[in-house]
Amino acid sequence: MKAFDTYLLDRAKQDGAHKLESYRKLGGYKGLEKVLKTGLTPAAVIDEVKKSNLRGRGGAGFPTGLKWSFMPDPAKDPRPRYLAINADESEPGTCKDRVLMERDPHGLVEGSLIAAYAIRAQAVYIYVRGEYRLSHDRVRDAILEARAAKLVGKNILGSDFSCEIYMHKGAGAYICGEETGLMESLEGKRGHPRPKPPFPAMSGLWGQPTTVNNVETVFNAPFIIERGGAWLAGIGTKGSSGNFLCGISGHVNKPGVYELPFGVTAKEIIEDKAGGIWKGRKLKAWFPGGSSCALLTGKDVDVVLDHDSLKARGSSLGTAAMIMIDDSTSIARVMEIIARFYDHESCGQCSQCREGTQWLAQIFRRIAHGKGQPDDIDTLDALAKGMAPGKTICALSDAAAIPTLSAVRLFKDELMECVRKQRDPLAVKQPEYAVAGGHH
Ligand SMILES: Cc1cc2nc3c(=O)[nH]c(=O)nc-3n(C[C@H](O)[C@H](O)[C@H](O)COP(=O)(O)O)c2cc1C
Ligand code: SF4
Repeated sequence: MKAFDTYLLDRAKQDGAHKLESYRKLGGYKGLEKVLKTGLTPAAVIDEVKKSNLRGRGGAGFPTGLKWSFMPDPAKDPRPRYLAINADESEPGTCKDRVLMERDPHGLVEGSLIAAYAIRAQAVYIYVRGEYRLSHDRVRDAILEARAAKLVGKNILGSDFSCEIYMHKGAGAYICGEETGLMESLEGKRGHPRPKPPFPAMSGLWGQPTTVNNVETVFNAPFIIERGGAWLAGIGTKGSSGNFLCGISGHVNKPGVYELPFGVTAKEIIEDKAGGIWKGRKLKAWFPGGSSCALLTGKDVDVVLDHDSLKARGSSLGTAAMIMIDDSTSIARVMEIIARFYDHESCGQCSQCREGTQWLAQIFRRIAHGKGQPDDIDTLDALAKGMAPGKTICALSDAAAIPTLSAVRLFKDELMECVRKQRDPLAVKQPEYAVAGGHH
């Protein structure tokens, strides 16, 4: 792997960086100061972010500057407006925002304030995954410290910019990470996604203009302001700029969260960062960006990690959470677990998703447990095609259908064999589960 500069995790690697004093010593709040003390207008901040080509890190890769520019002109639309930070981080395999929140929470506070300034929001709501207790506490403490230092609240740093930051804990529902489900949940209702349009920029939280951004996305903002949009645009590849946090998990020797520039190959990450596939086994399949992406095979590790290259391979970058699956693993079992997750997390509003996720879970379960029926693979394919793309209120239905379609396409023979033999030849025997301390 070629040498590259890091910035996202530099502070996080220092002990005590979560405290305001250390954060400031390490150069923190310089971006916010630049915005407020040099009289940068909100439009100029948005322009700089547009120049940087920053794309959202929450899964969809939407251009951030463009998203911010969708917020209405306050001269024509004086309604209150909000920024919601998506810290729900529930996509299976994804654990990058947690590192930022636990180890560098002021980076999130500063990034949120710059984003709020750009979209002229008077309040930020940070929606944190309920299980992330340390993340919650560290961000809460950072907000308290920042408020005491006049970095949050009224007339920040003596300017006329005022902004409050509030926190909200999720209660363990994946669907509350979907941006409109998140807003419903913040409003105190069930996390049922809303049909779009209207889009959040026109009618979001409490019906007011709202922008929803992922933690890692706004974390980039202070660096862009300090170093310039052209600096970030110069890192990575043409359509994907900057560094990103890659969470690699599963059957590798050194799972973890690593900072990398877009443009590295999956092979480089597996070998140079994750210490290779474990137990001397071979890579059979992998998810490049969380379980909602299409599976790729072990042969696809030459692919470059960025939005366009993964799209060209029929998958997507998602949250850059690589889940590695070795050649001793049963695909039927992997898909049984994944389909069960989506079945459990579907909110039930759309029939394709409510019924479809349940059927996928049942069929993968029976295939994995030696009870598959001759037409099951075709049924899986037809079902998944009826669930995606874009047929439902939100993308959870797609998230269940996409890995299914890839499993059926890439591992049809293996799934058929389970059905033909009425057993899964790769089923894990009981003792290995017992040793791993897992459940069956
Ligand atoms: C079912 C579902 C779950 C999602 N969960 C998350 C999540 O946990 N965190 C996140 O940032 N985005 C999540 N998203 C994506 C958000 O809807 C939204 O696109 C994102 O927060 C936008 O931020 P960005 O533009 O900064 O990437 C999810 C989407 C779907 C469909
Ligand atoms: S697609 Fe699924 S999770 Fe999304 S709104 Fe419809 S039923 Fe709910």
